[in-house]
Amino acid sequence: MDRHDARDDQPELAPAAVITGATQGIGRALAEEFAKHGHTLLLVARNEEALAKTAREIASAHDVPAHHAACDLATPEGCDQLVEVLRTKGLYCESLVNNAAIMTAGFFQDQDREQLLKIVDLNVRAVVDLTRASCPTCWRATKAASSTSLRWKGSCRCPIRRLTPPPRRS
Ligand SMILES: NC(=O)c1ccc[n+]([C@@H]2O[C@H](COP(=O)([O-])OP(=O)(O)OC[C@H]3O[C@@H](n4cnc5c(N)ncnc54)[C@H](OP(=O)(O)O)[C@@H]3O)[C@@H](O)[C@H]2O)c1
Repeated sequence: MDRHDARDDQPELAPAAVITGATQGIGRALAEEFAKHGHTLLLVARNEEALAKTAREIASAHDVPAHHAACDLATPEGCDQLVEVLRTKGLYCESLVNNAAIMTAGFFQDQDREQLLKIVDLNVRAVVDLTRASCPTCWRATKAASSTSLRWKGSCRCPIRRLTPPPRRS
């Protein structure tokens, strides 16, 4: 099956909030918010040890399943790996938080080319790739939660989730 195919027709898969860059900072805070609302998590970053620790801590604090996937999202292989981890864990992406990003400082003309292209890879390419891969399943949930949409250069419309985690626990 193409990795971008919808999982809509596979009801046995469990929903998960996929949060990139979840080991620290804003990503970790958002992971805590989703967990507080009872969502199963799939936390993503590169450092396996930090991820496992974060997942353990959040799972025990909020009594939710917290999975993790160590992937370098600045590479196409890393994005593919995340999609594969979802599949092997029997999950589908219900909410996607594209949080992982890097920045640099200083004048544009002084920047290292490799670093600038890495920023594009993580902050732009991975966001497009993961959003596309998650669209079919996020779309179904989004229709119930939010009518916000994002227009991509006038050619396709893409749902985006509100930042407040949708209610799960009653
Ligand atoms: N902090 C601010 O003041 C601020 C202001 C405006 C916007 N933002 C934006 O908010 C987001 C989070 O910022 P933050 O300051 O909370 O970030 P942060 O503390 O630097 O954390 C970055 C997270 O992303 C992960 N990450 C970095 N490179 C990655 C890669 N190639 N693949 C997968 N994961 C990767 C890091 O883990 P690993 O290193 O283990 O991969 C870490 O979990 C970013 O998009 C940032 O641009 C932040």
